[in-house]
Amino acid sequence: MAILVTGGAGYIGSHTIVELFGEGYDVVVLDNLSNSCEKSLERVEEITGKKPKFYKGDIADREVLSEIFEKESIESCIHFAGLKAVGESVAKPLEYYMNNISGSLVLFDEMRKHNVKNIIFSSSATVYGDPAFVPITEECPKGEITNPYGQTKGMLEQILTDMYKADPEWNIILLRYFNPIGAHESGRIGENPNGIPNNLMPYITQVAVGKRECLGVFGDDYDTEDGTCIRDYIHVVDLALGHVKSVKKLEDKPGLKVYNLGTGVGSSVLDVVNTFVKASGVDVPYEMKPRRAGDVPVNFCDATKAKEELGWVAKRDLYKMCEDSWRWQSNNPNGYEE
Ligand code: NAD
Ligand code: UD1
Repeated sequence: MAILVTGGAGYIGSHTIVELFGEGYDVVVLDNLSNSCEKSLERVEEITGKKPKFYKGDIADREVLSEIFEKESIESCIHFAGLKAVGESVAKPLEYYMNNISGSLVLFDEMRKHNVKNIIFSSSATVYGDPAFVPITEECPKGEITNPYGQTKGMLEQILTDMYKADPEWNIILLRYFNPIGAHESGRIGENPNGIPNNLMPYITQVAVGKRECLGVFGDDYDTEDGTCIRDYIHVVDLALGHVKSVKKLEDKPGLKVYNLGTGVGSSVLDVVNTFVKASGVDVPYEMKPRRAGDVPVNFCDATKAKEELGWVAKRDLYKMCEDSWRWQSNNPNGYEE
């Protein structure tokens, strides 16, 4: 039996496949390579000695999905495939709704047709909006979502919930990720953003490697200790291990479950910069900039539920996240391009 990993050539997908192989699972990947390249899967093979079976195709393509479900013996799906750039989603809402919503509906429908009713979905802390309280538990009400990318996460959670209510044979785990950073400690796979990075860690590493001059820190007048925003950064390998635990949970037929995956530790933008400088030994020049629209001041989770029900705890601290991000970036200044 194999796990279908949609979006498996991407950042979180490639790290998750390494950990799935580590636990002896077989993996089939479906990815249209719109935001990744096959090289990541070759690197997975370098690390693990195993290459997942790869289908280049779209989650909206019924033909390729039918072929996969007919040829491979798929027992469950980890659904990473999706577009994820917040700013781009504001400029191109239709592309985001088509890709993320329409594509996922086709995937779910083909899963149902082939009687594969076990799925783990990549959701995001973005569904909490400006959280009603911190640390955020899964009971925290969903907040106002300010961009189409985030809306697709909220909508897909709702769609999956409705599917479960109509047909309790489904087993569905919604994983709300906090801020994934870091890379596999081999330095062979990591985050590989196109163009100017939107997110903090890839921007920092590109400044450190000399590709960008200076980091802009978006806002130093928030009501936090150093005035910059607080986030719950989580090492991508811990996140990947959270998926392995979730796959195991699916084997118990849990019905519908929701888990936060974070460390429970809040770090400010300046904490990240300072820790990165210590871990890498490289200076990161920065300047204060105005607040970025849509940023929430403080966001970190209570991950007790994942600990109690999945037996999962994030073990890698911010220093390790910075060390591993730097190893990836400094060994691969142009990502997967030679
Ligand atoms: P990523 O862009 O590296 O990986 C996504 C993969 O999906 C890419 O390889 C891309 O080519 C593929 N893809 C996109 N649309 C597709 C389609 N229609 N058909 C087939 N393949 C398609 O992103 P990531 O950081 O690895 O994120 C994985 C998932 O986790 C996404 O759903 C993302 O929204 C979610 N998520 C990510 C973060 C984060 O900070 N990275 C946070 C919360 C949630
Ligand atoms: C962002 C998205 C969120 C998405 C997540 C993972 C927004 C508003 N939210 O989260 O929906 O799920 O990425 O993809 O975009 N920062 C700087 N300078 C930079 C970049 C970031 O100061 O050049 C600051 C930000 O203001 C924020 C923190 O660093 O305070 C983290 O930012 P980022 O990495 O973009 O993540 P989020 O905004 O938390």
